[in-house]
Amino acid sequence: MEEKILEILKELTLEEKIGMIHGDGLFQTKGVERLGIPPLKMSDGPMGVRCEFENDKWVPSGNTDDYVTYLPSNSAVASTWNRELARLEGRVLGEEARGRGKDVILAPGINIKRSPLCGRNFEYMSEDPFLTAEEAVPLIQGIQESDVASCVKHFAVNSQETERLWVEPLVSDRALQEIYLPAFEHAVREGGAWSIMGAYNLLKGEHCCQSPFLLKDMLREQWGYDGCVISDWGAVHDTKKAAEGGLDIEMSVTDNFDEYFMAEPLKKEIAEKHIDESMVDEKVKNILRLMFRTKMLEGERKSGAYNTPSHRKAALDVARESVVLLKNEDGRLPLKREGLKKLLVVGENAAHTHSDGGGSAEIKALYEITPLMGLKSQLGGNVQVDYIRGYDSCIEEKGEGPNWQETSLEHGGGTVRQEAEAGEEAQERRRRLRLEAAGLAAHYDDVIFIGGLNHDYDLEGQDRKDMKLPYGQDELIESLLEANPATVIVLTAGSPVEMHSWADKAKAIVWSWYAGMEGGNALAEVLLGDTNPSGRLPETFPVRHMDCPAHCIGEFPGGKTVDYREGVYVGYRYYDTENIKVQFPFGYGLSYTTFEYEKIELLEDAEGVMSGAEVRVYLRNTGKYKGKETVQLYISPCSPSADRPVHELKGFEKTELAPGECAEVRFRLAEKDFAYYDENKQKFIAESGRYEIQIGASSRDIRLRTEICLKPVLGK
Ligand code: BGC
Repeated sequence: MEEKILEILKELTLEEKIGMIHGDGLFQTKGVERLGIPPLKMSDGPMGVRCEFENDKWVPSGNTDDYVTYLPSNSAVASTWNRELARLEGRVLGEEARGRGKDVILAPGINIKRSPLCGRNFEYMSEDPFLTAEEAVPLIQGIQESDVASCVKHFAVNSQETERLWVEPLVSDRALQEIYLPAFEHAVREGGAWSIMGAYNLLKGEHCCQSPFLLKDMLREQWGYDGCVISDWGAVHDTKKAAEGGLDIEMSVTDNFDEYFMAEPLKKEIAEKHIDESMVDEKVKNILRLMFRTKMLEGERKSGAYNTPSHRKAALDVARESVVLLKNEDGRLPLKREGLKKLLVVGENAAHTHSDGGGSAEIKALYEITPLMGLKSQLGGNVQVDYIRGYDSCIEEKGEGPNWQETSLEHGGGTVRQEAEAGEEAQERRRRLRLEAAGLAAHYDDVIFIGGLNHDYDLEGQDRKDMKLPYGQDELIESLLEANPATVIVLTAGSPVEMHSWADKAKAIVWSWYAGMEGGNALAEVLLGDTNPSGRLPETFPVRHMDCPAHCIGEFPGGKTVDYREGVYVGYRYYDTENIKVQFPFGYGLSYTTFEYEKIELLEDAEGVMSGAEVRVYLRNTGKYKGKETVQLYISPCSPSADRPVHELKGFEKTELAPGECAEVRFRLAEKDFAYYDENKQKFIAESGRYEIQIGASSRDIRLRTEICLKPVLGK
């Protein structure tokens, strides 16, 4: 391949090479017809393949041939804690991208969730780098099985939307190495991602798409990356820096393609000998490599497909395992089908579709089963299902039109959401809707409230102001619980919301992410007991956003710079170390059955633990239903000399067990799992000494413990 790349390179004129390294359409570059080099075609990502736009306008083509499978969001995928489902999601995305004639799918999003308020959290996986990497790697591999490149985004430290174009996170090297970079490193090293997208924000004084630190030192030198770096749309600001900083393709949101920094301006700089043409050659080599890998230039390229029955089944499989049962007192759930004659469903999200919102992640879904539709169709007409909205979102102004992206980079690219105060009329309507719903709720044995957020809140280019449920839902939930204390509370959202005012009163709380076109069916199955819930939270649900470290130090969303002073204390690393009360902890989720963690065994390798150890855990289903448990392994240093979080996730395994059945779950540990990043030595160090190995059902529910002693290895 490398020889062929050099041969092609020799044939190309500067003009042709320049055409290949910048957008010549909103989602494609220029090809070189005389040499059989096609344009590179891209599409968003990550919940399916986005609709077709006109080449030079953010105007949807309006055809009916670009409906697709709407897949569960990345937060939903992470919530399954199931690597095989992540692979399945990737496979569908890859096949659909190929089926739609794309070469690159702009997915997955793997930024670390530093704050619950980041508007794009629904596109990201977790607050934890290990979980993110474990889900991202198979997802990327799944995509690329279809001869389509995954474009992992947004590299790096892109953890907020406010001022997203100009904000500079000030992050310690340790936090970079331990928290913000590892998932990207795994994505390219193990996932083998053929492309990666540079982020909008700055890092170490430079925009990420022009950052020699990120794109050269880390990506290419340390991680040995030979793939293609694509800019986020409009993330380039300087010709020389972009040309020399390690970026390969510049994309943007405007139609002045020839004026892009890496178009005519670059040609001019080369002509004037300010930039060496060899810079362009490097980029073209990386692009050609991607083209060979995706079989765009030779070999038999796989054909894809979209909207197949098996894709819809996959969307359902992922959705099923992403639903998280947060509370279930007195066995309130599942609903007992027997004797169920009448059911009241309350809440706008029961009947709302979400696929067409969120920003660039919007999907033109072939269909989307709402929770109400899922419940009705699964109850099959023999149960009277009544629906009442209870609240409505109309008083909030709706998102902009379909071509919002054209102006999306104005005003720094993002803000904090400004709430429209509900006027008197709106408040009166809310009150009426609430009273009407509560009045009805008293007359039903079974009431399900389905509310939460929507893509007016979980949205690109905008962070939330706080974690409060909008549209007066707290009051509504309180009224419903008063009228009918058995009311089941279901929330659909892409990021956590405050629940403290009513969580203690509710008997059952269920969490559903934006779970794709089959999300409503998956949720209904869980509520009716046809699926035993097995989702686990991939992020902590704090009580309030001010409990989150980024917020309590006053560094979110910040100004032009944001000081990530919390360092590595992100998510549970902070809450658990500081013993902060949380609403629901990281890794948490209930099942309709129960599991007993019976025993832990530690087998150290003969040469000593520096080379590895095996941990075996014996787990039994002690309940009445078949169910899946996610066994989590955390490592906790007993007396570290460095400042370290109380524990960190280093392993997890999801296992299905029949009632009474017992399973052995195995984990391998290596030296790197004990390490932290030493800023003075500029490398990871695994200190010798004692470590506790904790086996838990969440970060706050450690069931078994054992100790391991890491011995110094001679000569180290
Ligand atoms: C987003 C990217 C997306 C790109 C293309 C940008 O606004 O940040 O995630 O892939 O647009 O739509």
